[in-house]
Amino acid sequence: MTAYRIWDPFVRLFHWSLVALFAANALFVEDDSTAHEWIGYAIAALVVLRILWGFVGPRHARFAAFLPGTRALTEQIGDIATRRRRAHLGHTPLGALMIVNLLLTMLAICISGYLMTTDAFWGIEWVEEMHEVFVTWAEISVLAHVAAVLFESHRTGVNLPRAMVTGTKRVPDDIRIVE
Ligand code: HEM
Ligand code: HEM
Repeated sequence: MTAYRIWDPFVRLFHWSLVALFAANALFVEDDSTAHEWIGYAIAALVVLRILWGFVGPRHARFAAFLPGTRALTEQIGDIATRRRRAHLGHTPLGALMIVNLLLTMLAICISGYLMTTDAFWGIEWVEEMHEVFVTWAEISVLAHVAAVLFESHRTGVNLPRAMVTGTKRVPDDIRIVE
């Protein structure tokens, strides 16, 4: 095993705070409460900060380092299909697509939620429906995200959830690394 420091403290704090706050609003907190709105605003703030961090943060946190091209995507699909074991030090190409989806969906939920609290859009059905549809999409995405994380951890032998906690990826020595 070789250890690589990948995720900075902000990315890790961002991730696990987002998990807790999203779960709180989607599952536990009354949705017509002020707590629901404040938790939603906290999520919006976290996502905006993460997007800024994607431009100024350290190497592996930057969008420029992980937004994939079609070649990287087809290579990862090829790896999975042909059982070729290679590990990515930062986000994997398919993982990066999911991240963009999750960040944008969080913003869409928060904007539609905010609109429901304004005089102009209060009580308007399609805004409420958008909020619900985005939440459902986020829930489906999260299930796919977690399944993919577990699948990729198993396939490559790199414990990805652990890396999101400690910041360090431990990569088995017999597998090739793709930058
Ligand atoms: C990621 C963040 C959020 C999640 C996961 C979330 C989730 C939900 C869910 C599951 C509902 C119930 C929908 C239904 O009726 O089936 C709901 C309703 C609602 N949400 Fe959110 N929401 C979030 C952010 C926000 C924000 C930022 C605001 C406003 C600032 C907001 C305002 C509302 C309002 C006003 C309702 C309708 C409450 C009612 O029944 O009168 N939400 N939300
Ligand atoms: C509400 C649930 C979740 C949401 C909204 C979410 C969202 C995200 C986002 C936005 C990222 C990108 C991190 C960044 O670069 O800033 C990410 C990465 C990641 N998440 Fe989650 N996540 C959720 C649940 C989980 C859970 C339960 C696990 C653990 C099994 C997990 C494991 C990971 C891992 C390992 C990565 C890094 C993937 C890689 O190495 O490329 N996530 N997640």
